[in-house]
Amino acid sequence: MSAIPASILAQHIAFLGKTGSGKTSTAKLAIEQIVRADPSARVCILDAVKSDWWGLTSSADGKRPGLPFVILGGPRGHVPLHDSAGKAIGDLVANGSLPLSIVDMADFGAGGLQKFFNDFAPALMKRMRGVVYLVLEEAHEFAPKERSGIGAETMAIHWAKKLATAGRSKGIRLMVLTQRTQALHNALLGSCDTMIAHRLTAPADQEPVKKWLKANVDKATYETVSASMASLKTGSAWLCSGEAQVTELFQFPKIATYDNSATPTSRSGEHAVKTAPVVA
Ligand SMILES: Nc1ncnc2c1ncn2[C@@H]1O[C@H](COP(=O)(O)OP(=O)(O)OP(=O)(O)O)[C@@H](O)[C@H]1O
Ligand SMILES: [Mg+2]
Repeated sequence: MSAIPASILAQHIAFLGKTGSGKTSTAKLAIEQIVRADPSARVCILDAVKSDWWGLTSSADGKRPGLPFVILGGPRGHVPLHDSAGKAIGDLVANGSLPLSIVDMADFGAGGLQKFFNDFAPALMKRMRGVVYLVLEEAHEFAPKERSGIGAETMAIHWAKKLATAGRSKGIRLMVLTQRTQALHNALLGSCDTMIAHRLTAPADQEPVKKWLKANVDKATYETVSASMASLKTGSAWLCSGEAQVTELFQFPKIATYDNSATPTSRSGEHAVKTAPVVA
């Protein structure tokens, strides 16, 4: 049985929750499910800050290969990645030449994430063919609510909003992850049809979920969800979806690939197969 209702996977999804609540794991579960169901599915993960996603390429015990993602950049990269490669990668993701990719931005310098993204997003939007699942890990880094006033940051917000509002008609299905719901631009959250809300303790972070509930569920459900949000255990989340008509508490299973967030300094999962460079 699938862990995540298949009906929500065709929509934009927000994975919310405080640090350590299980957001990345649940999003990995969704990606594992998508790739298992359709080995020709296309996924691009923009791993913004802390190299959270390389474990997908290893089995749970770290001894065998996992999913055949190519890792671009970061400490586990199959190929190095420069922040000027955004357009090239956007083109490759759009035309299907790079079907499964993890873009690890952890080694970029200051402003590198925005520079990459501001070239990547328009190239993707312009040349997009078919369907791609696009994961924005730490999405508030791409589209923060507060602007720093830097031009590149303003442009990144612009492109994130474009992806959220116009992406679906082009075949782009967003998965937006953040531990700082209150710091994420409203347009991103607003475009998500489904919220998977893990443990949220700060009232300001709970607010968008409560707002959604007020508009979509009866008072008793609203009270139940609101009362439990702060104490959900790791890996549990309220799945709220208007499209799929679901408001349900899920206890998600452990991921089937290597859990690199459990042991960030471990050298397991080392087997990861080196692949030919895709970017010169
Ligand atoms: N469904 C689950 N079953 C068992 N353990 C889980 C589950 N989900 C997450 N965990 C464990 O909880 C820890 C934190 O999970 P995860 O990294 O997914 O959280 P996160 O919300 O993404 O945190 P952060 O905001 O810091 O990135 C991991 O070590 C993981 O092993
Ligand atoms: Mg995470």
